[in-house]
Amino acid sequence: MENISIALPKGRMADSAITLFEKAGIAENILKDISRKLVVNDYKNLMKFMLVKPIDVPTYVEHGAADLGICGKDILLEQKKDCYEVLDLKFGFCKMVVAGPKEAKDSFLTNKRVATKFPNIAEEFFRQKGENVEIIKLNGSVELAPIVGLSEVIVDIVETGNTLRENGLIVIEEIFPSSARLIVNKASLKTKSQRIKEIIIKLKEVVESFK
Ligand code: PRP
Ligand code: MG
Repeated sequence: MENISIALPKGRMADSAITLFEKAGIAENILKDISRKLVVNDYKNLMKFMLVKPIDVPTYVEHGAADLGICGKDILLEQKKDCYEVLDLKFGFCKMVVAGPKEAKDSFLTNKRVATKFPNIAEEFFRQKGENVEIIKLNGSVELAPIVGLSEVIVDIVETGNTLRENGLIVIEEIFPSSARLIVNKASLKTKSQRIKEIIIKLKEVVESFK
């Protein structure tokens, strides 16, 4: 039997991802240790789980350091890495939006600066609308940018809407809905196809039982 390695997302999607594997009976008690260790081996079942920042999950999977991975659709669309997206896991629901202060619609007519962690998505969105914008790449706390005059609007993820509300910003336009996805390394799907397909089927059963 081949070894299978899986990259799980750290942070807000971690619990749902771990629960999913436990419910699927793929990784019983192994995963409770993963908050402290970055790699957990399940020698009995020949599985290895690693915990990485969601933004790095496609990199591990594309290079084959992980056979499988879980990350948001937002990250997949931003990075367009060379791997297969095989399953919508139906958690980690959020929306990619354009947001800003109420008056942003007026100020955006003259100055078109967009702060974002997702420069490719933002670029593509405004290009399709035929709007010429300046993209300002940030790495976090993007909501600050329009408040302090770094940009007129932001392109970012909204989940509960709390961050926007607490910073006096509103959703101006929705771009696309996002949720967690299972991705697979292209070569692994060929070389370890039986085990990987078994895992996909087990996870799919759990996901469908949530409906
Ligand atoms: C994400 C996102 C929003 C916020 C949305 O930021 O960039 O800021 O969460 O969630 P909410 O609608 O429930 O408030 P994150 O907390 O990951 O931090 P970062 O932007 O600093 O990376
Ligand atoms: Mg944020």
